[in-house]
Amino acid sequence: MEPTQAVAHRQPSLRRRLLAFLLIPTLALMLLDTAFVYYVALRYSNGIHDRDLAFSTLGLAQALQEGRSGGGLTREAHLLLEYNPNGQSFFSVRSQRHGVVSSSKARIPPLREAPTGSPPILFDASIDAMPVRVASVTIPSPVEPGDRLVVSLAESLHGRHQRAKEILWLTIPIESALIVVLLALVWQGVKFGLQILDPPIRRLAARERNLEPISGPDIPIEILPLTRTIDVLFGRVQALVALQDRFIADAAHQLRTPLAGLAMHVERASKAHSESDFVAAMQHVQALTARVTRSATQLLALARAQGRQDDASTPQYLDLAAHLPEIVASRIPESLHAGVDLGYDAGDQPAMIRGDSNALQELFDNLIDNALNHVSRGGVITISLRVPSESGGGILAAVDDDGPGVPDDLIPRLGERFFRSPGAPGGGSGLGLAIVRRIAEAHGAKVSFGRSILGGLRVELLFPPPGTVPA
Ligand SMILES: Nc1ncnc2c1ncn2[C@@H]1O[C@H](COP(=O)(O)OP(=O)(O)OP(=O)(O)O)[C@@H](O)[C@H]1O
Ligand SMILES: [Mg+2]
Repeated sequence: MEPTQAVAHRQPSLRRRLLAFLLIPTLALMLLDTAFVYYVALRYSNGIHDRDLAFSTLGLAQALQEGRSGGGLTREAHLLLEYNPNGQSFFSVRSQRHGVVSSSKARIPPLREAPTGSPPILFDASIDAMPVRVASVTIPSPVEPGDRLVVSLAESLHGRHQRAKEILWLTIPIESALIVVLLALVWQGVKFGLQILDPPIRRLAARERNLEPISGPDIPIEILPLTRTIDVLFGRVQALVALQDRFIADAAHQLRTPLAGLAMHVERASKAHSESDFVAAMQHVQALTARVTRSATQLLALARAQGRQDDASTPQYLDLAAHLPEIVASRIPESLHAGVDLGYDAGDQPAMIRGDSNALQELFDNLIDNALNHVSRGGVITISLRVPSESGGGILAAVDDDGPGVPDDLIPRLGERFFRSPGAPGGGSGLGLAIVRRIAEAHGAKVSFGRSILGGLRVELLFPPPGTVPA
């Protein structure tokens, strides 16, 4: 068996499911219907048998009246009255004055008596523990004026049930055929019903890179939840494709020029005629390598930060008041080397946020990088943290420096990809603040830029209290 066939065999089937769901209630209904048909048939059979029994009783009564025998019956008449091919029959003729005049071997109990001259009455009784139906009529005695004869005929119920069963056996094949036809119709109906999906499936199959929503006016309402979910997924895939396209464009934009320069200077070095030419070429190679490395690192960091919103990993609760000093401490050797006073200013309350510690490290590293790049030797950088009571609701982290800052008209452009203000020190790729912005967004934090009281740039991050950050 081919693998695709094996998979198809295990696939759930709408038809099979519908049939299974229909089969059990249909069979139950059929049982119920059988019981109902039997009940109706039995009533019908009872009606006919009662009529015949009453008619025979009247016939016997009439024969007695005309025979002038006083209720005595011949042996032939006995046999005839007791003959019943579908069960057992009984009779009795009871005189009011003389008791039983004539009867079958088993006697009919004298339970009820009809008024003289009225039509026969019918009632249930039992003879030797066998349920029977009795018809009884009262006539004046033909031989003894003043005396009355109660003439009764009884029969077992077997014949009645037999008739009802015969009717039932007639209906069962018809009903079974109806059920089979119904199930076959369901089987075909599902096939035809599902053909409604053919046009959207054809449209979808004809697409190549089109990730537009597929839900439309021709999608059946029962399928809409599925197509809407697919549309949401398409939206995410579209965002990822856009991210990938942007990454490729960014990488081309950032790496093409330095890589071409690198190739050129490597060639220059290989053909250098003097040591000074070689050293000069190698210095360019070194600078360009650093630029390419920085660009590649920042591009990857930005792609990671942009993809983070779609990341399924749940952010952890973390205490920024414990985390931030560690980040600052890790940069102290660098700041000492640059002759910059890198300080940390915070109270001692915890500052709980929901976040990703690696991403936050990336964010603050970028801000400290920028500050270190822009302050001069002897300059000051201060990282501060304020908790809700001091900052009005959110957790406020800020990076201040005493560098040149950014002109007011350029401040709105900070955070744009590749934006670098005129005169910015070389070596940067213009992606640091875009990374900061993305990571802040993923944490539900607001970023703002402004002039610091130290004279340089102030970058503020307002984190929402934990619990308000979307997971
Ligand atoms: N602390 C600061 N003081 C003055 N200007 C700044 C400061 N931080 C950022 N800027 C300006 O904003 C621009 C963008 O900063 P960003 O961090 O995005 O890029 P970058 O530092 O040039 O490169 P990289 O991607 O390597 O970080 C910088 O080029 C600089 O002009
Ligand atoms: Mg930077």
